[in-house]
Amino acid sequence: MALLEVRNLHVRFKAQGGDVTAVRGVDFDLERGETLAIVGESGSGKSQTVFAILGLLAKNGQASGSVRFEGKEILNAPPRTLNPIRANRIGIVFQDPMTSLNPYMRVSEQLEEVLIFHKGMGKREARTESLRMLDAVQIPDARSRITLYPHEFSGGMRQRVMIAMALLCRPDILIGDEPTTALDVTVQAQIMRLLSDLQRDFGMALILITHDLGVVAGAAERVMVLYGGQVMEEGPARDLFAAPSHPYTQGLLRSIPRLDRQDERLASIPGNPPNMARQIKGCPFAPRCPHAGEDCLDHLAPLSAFAPGRARACNRSVEALA
Ligand SMILES: Nc1ncnc2c1ncn2[C@@H]1O[C@H](COP(=O)(O)OP(=O)(O)O)[C@@H](O)[C@H]1O
Ligand code: SF4
Ligand SMILES: [Mg+2]
Repeated sequence: MALLEVRNLHVRFKAQGGDVTAVRGVDFDLERGETLAIVGESGSGKSQTVFAILGLLAKNGQASGSVRFEGKEILNAPPRTLNPIRANRIGIVFQDPMTSLNPYMRVSEQLEEVLIFHKGMGKREARTESLRMLDAVQIPDARSRITLYPHEFSGGMRQRVMIAMALLCRPDILIGDEPTTALDVTVQAQIMRLLSDLQRDFGMALILITHDLGVVAGAAERVMVLYGGQVMEEGPARDLFAAPSHPYTQGLLRSIPRLDRQDERLASIPGNPPNMARQIKGCPFAPRCPHAGEDCLDHLAPLSAFAPGRARACNRSVEALA
């Protein structure tokens, strides 16, 4: 049994101009201690997938399907089931740390509060443990900086504070929803390295969400590529980078800047992601796919395995695309 099992997950939103179906039948497993990257352009359903898992959908949203954590169904579970899981077992870090930090409270108070409330620690013990965690996320001189307000930290340091906060209760899973997107490139690399180190040291599973396949190149063991709320391709990162099997993954890979080919112009994928308020018949990528045919407007082959640990959803064979 995998630590987390997601099956046929759908997320729909009631909206004025018609319902939006943001997630359309997503399946995946997450094993203990594993790093899974969820990759796709903006609007492909990455965030809503994890929000549904954690019961964090907006009021107009509704999830269906199944999410099992340690074998227990948690999708649409009541707060008394979800709260302890969100507090102790699954941590999440967002793109903008200020969405989860209180600007009017010192970092020390915010960290300690978590431990006092969820772990029943006393104030002193909570301070010691908070400092230990700030050290773990490599905030220099944590002892004097712990009493600062969030705005007194740089963007990168603030993201480290958020990671420390998410780790306080030693979760089994840490989810990073574009945790480095707002940061500049060198800081991005530092945070990615930190997350990898923490994942190993804490022995937790990591779900890394990003629109930038380049960010996860060295960090993820497995990659799941989402497009239009559906899984297009999934497999070990190494294999997927070496030989992407899906036209969308191939396009994403071509749009990653490469240090050894700086002279080449980046080939971003022409066109735009689909409108999620529409019913999509056939393959969502068809309007942008260089290999699309009439058949693709009509149906899409279901996600299926084609090599050990690898799966794809495409009407063309792997050989036909190579
Ligand atoms: N509260 C909401 N009401 C209606 N549509 C929403 C709502 N929240 C998200 N969406 C839609 O869900 C789709 C997927 O969003 P999201 O998962 O946030 O994408 P990603 O994280 O991959 O950028 C988008 O089309 C977005 O507009
Ligand atoms: S199913 Fe058709 S449109 Fe979709 S990725 Fe494959 S070839 Fe392209
Ligand atoms: Mg998002």
